[in-house]
Amino acid sequence: MTEPLISIRHISKRFPGVVALQDMSFDVTRGECHAVMGENGAGKSTLMKILSGVQPDFEGELVLRGQAIRFADTRAAEAAGISMIHQELNLVEGLSAAANVFLGREKRTRFGFLDDREMERATAILLEQLECQIPPQTLVGTLRVGDQQLVEIAKALSLETEILIMDEPTSALTESEVARLYRVLAKLRERGVTILYISHKMEEVFRLADRITVLRDGQFVRTLDKSNTTAKQIAHLMVGREIESIELGAKRQIGDVVLETRGLSLPWSGHARQWRLQDISFQLRRGEVLGIAGLMGAGRTELLECLFGCSPESPTGDILLRGELVRFQHPAEAKAAGLALVTEDRKRLGLFSHFSVGRNISLCHLSEMAAGGVFVNGETERIQCEAAVAKLRVKTAGLDSAITSLSGGNQQKTIIGRWLLTEPSVLLLDDPTRGVDVGAKAEIYRLIHDLCRDGIAAIVTSSELPELLILCDRILVLCEGRLTGEFTRDQFTEQAIMEAATQRTPHLHN
Ligand SMILES: Nc1ncnc2c1ncn2[C@@H]1O[C@H](COP(=O)(O)OP(=O)(O)OP(=O)(O)O)[C@@H](O)[C@H]1O
Ligand SMILES: [Mg+2]
Repeated sequence: MTEPLISIRHISKRFPGVVALQDMSFDVTRGECHAVMGENGAGKSTLMKILSGVQPDFEGELVLRGQAIRFADTRAAEAAGISMIHQELNLVEGLSAAANVFLGREKRTRFGFLDDREMERATAILLEQLECQIPPQTLVGTLRVGDQQLVEIAKALSLETEILIMDEPTSALTESEVARLYRVLAKLRERGVTILYISHKMEEVFRLADRITVLRDGQFVRTLDKSNTTAKQIAHLMVGREIESIELGAKRQIGDVVLETRGLSLPWSGHARQWRLQDISFQLRRGEVLGIAGLMGAGRTELLECLFGCSPESPTGDILLRGELVRFQHPAEAKAAGLALVTEDRKRLGLFSHFSVGRNISLCHLSEMAAGGVFVNGETERIQCEAAVAKLRVKTAGLDSAITSLSGGNQQKTIIGRWLLTEPSVLLLDDPTRGVDVGAKAEIYRLIHDLCRDGIAAIVTSSELPELLILCDRILVLCEGRLTGEFTRDQFTEQAIMEAATQRTPHLHN
């Protein structure tokens, strides 16, 4: 037996009201890709934060290369060769990609000034290894989540990391970017880098990992060799029960047209392509779940933003709501007209990080409860929030907990809960199950299905195509801002949709 690279020994971590980890022990072998799986709130991120020095305060012992070790901070962990790519990206939005890569260890000229040129040069090389096209001077805040993540990976690469911890790295990426990340990971493994990989995606875990450790409720359940287990067994170990397999589309009554776009286009100032979206026409009917498929950058998020009145520029063309022309200048107007948007990037747009869980849920609803001269009724608010938390099984110590104390997946569920309280007639969901565990995914699908069966209409985007196939009545495909395909349920195949998502000339089926 070779000595383990990392031994986690009897580690426990408590937060007020929550036991995040309880007497956790397992080993990581040098050079392996070790996946860590478990439901939202199982303790995966907490454990990795301990390993990477983010969380210096814990009980138990961490043994690295045979020596007991305790990191005071991330710097100490990085010096020992451990870097972590966080679930909630950890970049300074007002700085360039290069400045972020070298944050805290800036390169200087021999006169002591910041050597931007050198940092940009080095960053450009790293980004190129990651097949990332952005110039190193680009402000990180202007990048989409997918590119921001590549900047974080570039940062870890620049530290010549020996142990790379990745917390749901593909949750913000689409197929082509995921393929690119897999290539990068393969290169790192050739160099002997050990990878600890958190993911909710079975397919990816089975592709990448040598071994899989399952956690449940802060406890170690089992470590399995990939070759000796199945996705079904892992899912079962994760949730401790069978998960129902669901087939939801085609069981809904589809009614009248609620929302329609005619020739909707979104300009793209100063960009060679000129249009983020071009000539998009479609209809959405009551009771319908309409999927929007497409690769990263195809315009999925932009389309939802146009509909919700929060696009980066004003769209041209028409949007009709129940037959009436509308032009929302602000999300508040869209909301008042009965629309709701669950956003993709919860850190930037979705959450109010200084508010409690309860406030984050009731936020959109407050103005309604307070409208018409009625003051905010604390009791009503509490009852409704509790219902939302229970319905989505948000794991929290209570409504008064800080939203930032929730695990990533539970934050996402909180946002969904918030919008459901506004009782929208059109629900727009941008990658709603990103980072959500298998059990909770099924709950969210069920919820969307139930809402649409009761007469609302939904538009859903997803970076996981199989998810759209389960959920939707119809799927539109975007490629480079244009509609390149439309599929009804009987025409759904992954291959046909992927073909439409990668073709450049518009070609409609019906
Ligand atoms: N800073 C904190 N303060 C209070 N509680 C916390 C804090 N960080 C984590 N927790 C709690 O610890 C538990 C484990 O959280 P953790 O983030 O490790 O889960 P996770 O397995 O990564 O889940 P997910 O899949 O949703 O990301 C959760 O109940 C969470 O609410
Ligand atoms: Mg997590």
